[in-house]
Amino acid sequence: MTIATAKDILMPAAQNGYAVGAFNVTNLIQLEAVVEAAVEKRAPLIIQTSVAPAKFLGPHVLVAVYRALAESAPIPIALHLDHCEDVVYCQQCADAGYTNIMIDASKQDFEENVRRTRAVSDYCHALGGISVEGELGTVSGVEDQIKVVEDEAALCNPAQVVEFVERTGVDLLAPAIGTAHGVYKTADPRVDFERLRCINELLNGSGVRVPLVVHGGTGLPVDTVRRLVAVGGCKFNVSTELKRTLIDATFDYIAAHRDEYNPGKIDKVVKDAVRRVVAHWIDILGSADKA
Ligand code: 13P
Repeated sequence: MTIATAKDILMPAAQNGYAVGAFNVTNLIQLEAVVEAAVEKRAPLIIQTSVAPAKFLGPHVLVAVYRALAESAPIPIALHLDHCEDVVYCQQCADAGYTNIMIDASKQDFEENVRRTRAVSDYCHALGGISVEGELGTVSGVEDQIKVVEDEAALCNPAQVVEFVERTGVDLLAPAIGTAHGVYKTADPRVDFERLRCINELLNGSGVRVPLVVHGGTGLPVDTVRRLVAVGGCKFNVSTELKRTLIDATFDYIAAHRDEYNPGKIDKVVKDAVRRVVAHWIDILGSADKA
């Protein structure tokens, strides 16, 4: 039985200086692929769905597949709801069996962010077996239904993090530090390492309390990822790269086999391609053999 919360998985990571990949999936082939890659690497794993795939497939279906795979896997696996702005939908996914919930009230003012995040924390903690992620500052780019233009994105103010964590009771914090959802427009995006280091020191300097989450994994140079891990980045979210891999692998296969009508072969090609991407991330993050 290897059902786990993201906090269960991330506490040892934060204490031992490695990070764990949190991979957004949009369908069941991707979901199986990320599990297979993590099992091969003996790496702890966080599977994520944003709200659109959760609504399309249904949280109960996703939880049933997650549980079936996780219960027979020799690694801890969490199922995380990503960037949900709706407190009631967070609660519904918690009821269905997600083991980590992200309430994203980061576009609200500080007090409203605290209020909504607290409501989700209280609900999930009362249910038990669920950890909660909050966001402070706003990450730019497009993730699912949420679009934040660069000018409106605001980095996390370190002076607010201790108060935010204490008043909301969150288990994980995603501070905006300059990373962005989607594809970076430059090869070397401006990431505020010092801000993350400072936030990590404030929250976890005298013992890990709240592991830190880095959004916008796709396109970050390997060196940037390693530097972010070194200053406290512990959960790395990767979404766009998996979507592109799915679409490109499907397109390439169909283009080369236009007269063939065998969906199973397309599924296999997609699964292999996604597995390779996930395995590469696990190597970069240092979580292989940590399960
Ligand atoms: P990318 O789409 O840039 O990989 O970002 C993923 C993410 O942060 C999901 O929360």
